[in-house]
Amino acid sequence: MPHEKRRVAVLISGSGSNLQALIDDCESDAGNHPAEICLVVSNKAEAYGLKRAENHNIKTKVISHKDFSTREEFDQEIHKVLLDNNIEIVCLAGFMRVLTKEFVEKWEGKMINIHPSLLPKHKGAHAVRDALVAGDKVTGCTVHYVVPEIDSGEIIIQREVGILAGDDESSLLERLHPQEHIAYKQALRKIAEL
Ligand code: GRF
Repeated sequence: MPHEKRRVAVLISGSGSNLQALIDDCESDAGNHPAEICLVVSNKAEAYGLKRAENHNIKTKVISHKDFSTREEFDQEIHKVLLDNNIEIVCLAGFMRVLTKEFVEKWEGKMINIHPSLLPKHKGAHAVRDALVAGDKVTGCTVHYVVPEIDSGEIIIQREVGILAGDDESSLLERLHPQEHIAYKQALRKIAEL
């Protein structure tokens, strides 16, 4: 009997290229992949990632933070939707809301994030720019477990990307994204097999 796949939700706010990489990996190896993307949640109705999910017949849900008066209530709604869908693993992929300690603690050990730097360097929302400004010769991406302190959880996988003379944010991001996609695919397989 094949093992049951782990039920995964991906939380996004935008383009969802990492989401696409995860969907493609699950679908291209459906017989062996230990996870299945069952739900995509976005806090923005216009996020292109929602289209990507719909294209693959994956259930989507928009939960706008603007509809809630506190972070706690917003996070409680996300938690409820995750439970309603029997979600076991949460992947943050360009989800641009800071999650409350209470929510993060409920999902600790089951929620991962991708960040565009070699953590612990350059935490926060401007990691790519910060690596350029710091004059780093190498940056990269990190997939890590999510803990209440931002960008600080245990590292699962990192991949390096060289910074070239003349790089700006967009040229660097263009080389960074494919590495993110590889890292995230590997990380999801790894934690889904635990
Ligand atoms: C990625 O660069 C990721 O590191 C950061 O947000 C971006 C999301 O990109 N957390 P995409 O929406 O997956 O294309």
